[in-house]
Amino acid sequence: MFGLFKASQPKLLHIEGTPTPLPVGDKETILNAALRQGIRFPHSCRVGGCATCKCRLTRGKVKELTEAAYVLSAEELDQGYILACQSVPRGEVHIALDQPPVQAPDPIRCWGTVVAQQALTHDITALDIELEPESNQALHYAAGQYARLSVPGHIDTPRSYSFATPATASGQRRVRFFIRQVPGGEMSSWAQGPVLASRVRLEGPYGDFYLRESPAQPILCIAGGSGLAPIKALLEDALAHRNPRPVTFLFGARSQQDLYCLAELQQLQEQWAGDFRFIPVLSEEPAASDWNGARGLVTDHLEQYCDPRSQAYLCGPPAMLDAAEHKLQQLGIPPQQCFSDKFLDQSSQANAQ
Ligand SMILES: Cc1cc2nc3c(=O)[nH]c(=O)nc-3n(C[C@H](O)[C@H](O)[C@H](O)COP(=O)(O)OP(=O)(O)OC[C@H]3O[C@@H](n4cnc5c(N)ncnc54)[C@H](O)[C@@H]3O)c2cc1C
Ligand code: FES
Repeated sequence: MFGLFKASQPKLLHIEGTPTPLPVGDKETILNAALRQGIRFPHSCRVGGCATCKCRLTRGKVKELTEAAYVLSAEELDQGYILACQSVPRGEVHIALDQPPVQAPDPIRCWGTVVAQQALTHDITALDIELEPESNQALHYAAGQYARLSVPGHIDTPRSYSFATPATASGQRRVRFFIRQVPGGEMSSWAQGPVLASRVRLEGPYGDFYLRESPAQPILCIAGGSGLAPIKALLEDALAHRNPRPVTFLFGARSQQDLYCLAELQQLQEQWAGDFRFIPVLSEEPAASDWNGARGLVTDHLEQYCDPRSQAYLCGPPAMLDAAEHKLQQLGIPPQQCFSDKFLDQSSQANAQ
């Protein structure tokens, strides 16, 4: 009888590899509890759409806020994977992460000015942003991470964009982004206009898309559209560190006019210490054109190029990445060796809610 009136015990979250369990608020998700208490928990969209926050529930029960089944594979669900951003513990829980969180510095917030603008294709624009002198800190980030940009007074809700170049050891005072025009998109339309000398607000770095260390495992990269940005940064950083791992890079685009940065990619290929294959794949190139490279979808070519021992790095439109992840699993690359950075926008995040 007295047991009925016992004060409820605080719920505890145990993260494998961390020494102290964390208290979790009543309706708090695992992700929010971890972030609130300073844990660099991997995450990106926070709305159940990208699977960056996936972790294995090893003990206890959670209430799931949305259906995880469409972002996690049947195999992952069987193994007990959940989405930390969509899981509220029902009591004490234990979880395990596949990889330790990225060792990157805490995010900073600063002002920057657009100092260069270049049309890379008919719908992708490169913007260079220089941090203003009063933000007297350089930006340190891991190649593959992203920043959140806003244009205060004009576009107040920040949008996510990946760094297109790696940072030097002393950090960057000038950063570059590749911004693809989204139909009806506010920020991407702004970026195509006369923005030189505009002031922007930048927060970052964020994200857990970075090259995982491995002595000799092949690297398989798959990018679509502006998804080239973080993959290029990640490979340029690896080149600077003389990484000799074999690379296969499939780049999906519609037609020849959607290909860009080819000179930089060729340079990467020539300077790479080990094997480096770059395969552009065009899905809508006219049949009669002079293109004699690969045609179709990137997924049509994975069987030919995928080594099942690879670590896979995927970046670009969510639909393309979902199809590629599925195919890679069929070809023997386990989900734990597959790292994705899905370029979700407001509409895909709204759909995921
Ligand atoms: C981690 C990460 C990294 C990224 N890196 C890059 C990158 O390097 N380069 C790049 O080009 N993109 C990148 N993206 C994608 C990029 O953030 C989006 O394309 C961008 O936010 C679009 O902003 P926008 O203002 O142009 O469009 P928005 O104005 O946000 O609109 C996007 C679309 O959603 C619709 N929409 C707006 N609000 C709603 C709503 N409430 N409900 C339903 N539909 C809505 C609009 O009509 C439009 O079609 C990244 C995304 C993530 C998550
Ligand atoms: S952060 Fe949880 S699914 Fe994207």
